[in-house]
Amino acid sequence: MKKFTVVIAGGGSTYTPGIVMMLLDNADRFPLKKLTLYDNDMERQKVLGEALNITLKEQAPEIEYSYTTDPATAFADADFCFAHIRVGKYEMREKDEKIPLKHGVVGQETCGPGGIAYGMRSITGMIELIDFMESYAPNCWMLNYSNPAAIVAEACRVLRPKSKVLNICDMPVGTLRRMSQIIGKTPKDLEVRYFGLNHFGWWTSVKDKNGYEYLPQILDYVAKNGYLTQIEVDTQHMDQSWQETHKKAKDLLAVDPRFLPNTYLKYYFYPDYVVNHSDISYTRTNEVIDGREKEVFSTARRIIEKGTADGSEFSIGSHATFIVDLARAIAFNTHERMVMIVENNGAIANFDHHAMVEVSCIVGTDGPEPLTQGIIPEFERALMYQQVTVEKLVVQAYIEGSYQKLWQALTLSKTVPSAKVAKAVLDDLIEVNKGYWPELK
Ligand code: NAD
Ligand code: G6P
Ligand code: MN
Repeated sequence: MKKFTVVIAGGGSTYTPGIVMMLLDNADRFPLKKLTLYDNDMERQKVLGEALNITLKEQAPEIEYSYTTDPATAFADADFCFAHIRVGKYEMREKDEKIPLKHGVVGQETCGPGGIAYGMRSITGMIELIDFMESYAPNCWMLNYSNPAAIVAEACRVLRPKSKVLNICDMPVGTLRRMSQIIGKTPKDLEVRYFGLNHFGWWTSVKDKNGYEYLPQILDYVAKNGYLTQIEVDTQHMDQSWQETHKKAKDLLAVDPRFLPNTYLKYYFYPDYVVNHSDISYTRTNEVIDGREKEVFSTARRIIEKGTADGSEFSIGSHATFIVDLARAIAFNTHERMVMIVENNGAIANFDHHAMVEVSCIVGTDGPEPLTQGIIPEFERALMYQQVTVEKLVVQAYIEGSYQKLWQALTLSKTVPSAKVAKAVLDDLIEVNKGYWPELK
């Protein structure tokens, strides 16, 4: 069996150890020749890089392993780049959340003005990464988690249309785990139909391999409990704030009881509720710094101190499962069915052909082939059209350096109450993003 060379970009990410452990778990299905971590912050990456060095020496000494800040070294011979960079890191994420909140608007990593601000930063980092890949490893595929995936995907479509970049999200996979628990199945038994945009979509079918439709049963459950389930289903999306999000899906379903909603719709359907339940002095970033980041980095430091990974465990969630399954689908032409972000091109019949949508796809050696979703109802279509236009305006604003277009993007976002508020939020965001955003005129 061929052995693969993988580079993880954003080597210092809290998700890196989970993905590496997942790769080790899959050594028989997706064997590695070489694994390299790449980051532009050596100090941060080194902690995880060293801990994983010790882990790999003990558990998989045959894999050539290193970590670096040099893109040429990182991408050499790579077959796959798993990317999850966060341009501006948690320091800027915190601002994305707190500045809108100061104006009474949703402050969120990927939705509303915070997501727009993050998008304006991410495009630069992502395009740089794609260009590194194409210079140093022209045959490489990039499987990209870096957020905001919707805006990043649109930027890739416009700026690097021929590049082998697949933008992905773990929320549909994470929520499918919850659904599978609700009906007493495992996720691998199930196949879904899904349409929408990233962090903005709906399941229209959840069937087992024999074709039995579970949608009505899951709808009944979610109408009462949201996606809250009894047992721990994952290592991700477990904090208290996530539990509230899973529960809130009940109120999302009430708005259109036909389809199962993505949890992220809460920021668009109930922005007032979200703002009233936010604490501007302690947002999700603070929770992540005190939670996931602390846990991952202290596990790494413990491994380094002891000089062995024995007894220390990095956790593996559905996030890692998905990206490794996707790499396998491409490497071995498995034709697995997966929810992916792709250019519409008629997959949703009554929607813009040139919109980046999130739909069920069959994935093989040539990448994802979207499954036709037919005509979608007008309520979802109108919501999607508004949101996708926000995303397109952000990318245009970035390319043209247009203040006007970015103001329009914020004004159009369903999370923002008026053009006046949009302008006030935008002006504050411009101030703190100096050096990260292109200059706007
Ligand atoms: P993190 O801050 O822990 O890690 C990000 C790393 O990227 C840091 O080490 C940072 O130094 C590095 N980085 C920043 N800019 C870079 C650049 N230009 N080149 C190389 N490296 C760079 O963040 P995290 O919480 O672990 O999340 C990582 C990313 O994954 C975020 O974008 C997050 O939104 C995304 N994510 C996406 C999904 C999804 O569903 N698409 C799921 C989980 C996480
Ligand atoms: C989900 C989403 C990701 C997002 C993450 C945020 O997995 O699909 O796009 O980055 O949640 O999680 P966090 O724990 O950092 O708030
Ligand atoms: Mn996501």
